[in-house]
Amino acid sequence: MKKLIALVLTLMMVLSCAAVLSETKGTLIMATNASFPPYEYYEGTEIVGIDVEIAAAISAKLGYDFEVADMEFDAIISAVNAGKADFGLAGMTVTEERLLSVDFSDSYATGVQVVIVREDSDITSVDDLFAEGAMHTIGVQLTTTGDLYTTWDLEDAGLAVINRYPNGNEAVMALKAGKVDCVVIDNEPAKAYVAANEGLKILATEYVTENYAACFKKGNPLLAEFNAALQELIADGTIPAIIEKYIPTEE
Ligand code: ARG
Repeated sequence: MKKLIALVLTLMMVLSCAAVLSETKGTLIMATNASFPPYEYYEGTEIVGIDVEIAAAISAKLGYDFEVADMEFDAIISAVNAGKADFGLAGMTVTEERLLSVDFSDSYATGVQVVIVREDSDITSVDDLFAEGAMHTIGVQLTTTGDLYTTWDLEDAGLAVINRYPNGNEAVMALKAGKVDCVVIDNEPAKAYVAANEGLKILATEYVTENYAACFKKGNPLLAEFNAALQELIADGTIPAIIEKYIPTEE
């Protein structure tokens, strides 16, 4: 009798483990723009990076499967609002304007808008862009904060012409080809682009510092779960370790 009970108990345990393993609450789809190293970029045919690993860890913690949908940066907020993606995670800066159309999670990283120039450039500081009579051609990624700030601060003031590209890589290619005088973009991708392309450098002066967060359709109850998991994964060291893996702190 004891043996039978033990057998039944073992069977029940095996079955419930199998159920836990196979049963998830569904699949979470992360909308991103995978030309933004080290946050999201292609390694061969696979999209990797800080945002991808953070989203995978949060999804696993919440019991969901997880998928990445790559699209233009410009399309992320509409994909989230149309329910085509559960959240957007794309090194996206929290801004007042975006808060009108989406909710943001807690912040998980900071970004700094910096200026990339060719090594022989006569632009030596951010102030040069603001100088009276300056008329530089500036490359940005369409609808990113680099686009918004340079448009308001410089183009609207008659101090620059802005060329908008679908992603950061194309803006950097335009800089190399001499089609623009500089590129305003987030610091970590800037470092990756400069490392991958000869003849470019980042100006020491910074344009502005900002907070990155995940965006959700307004009122989506998943946001609270996401934030809870995010905070736990920050506290237990998982997220700091993911960031350190891609952005090693220099000694
Ligand atoms: N932080 C900037 C913004 O929110 C740029 C983000 C671009 N991200 C990307 N995955 N391409 O506008």
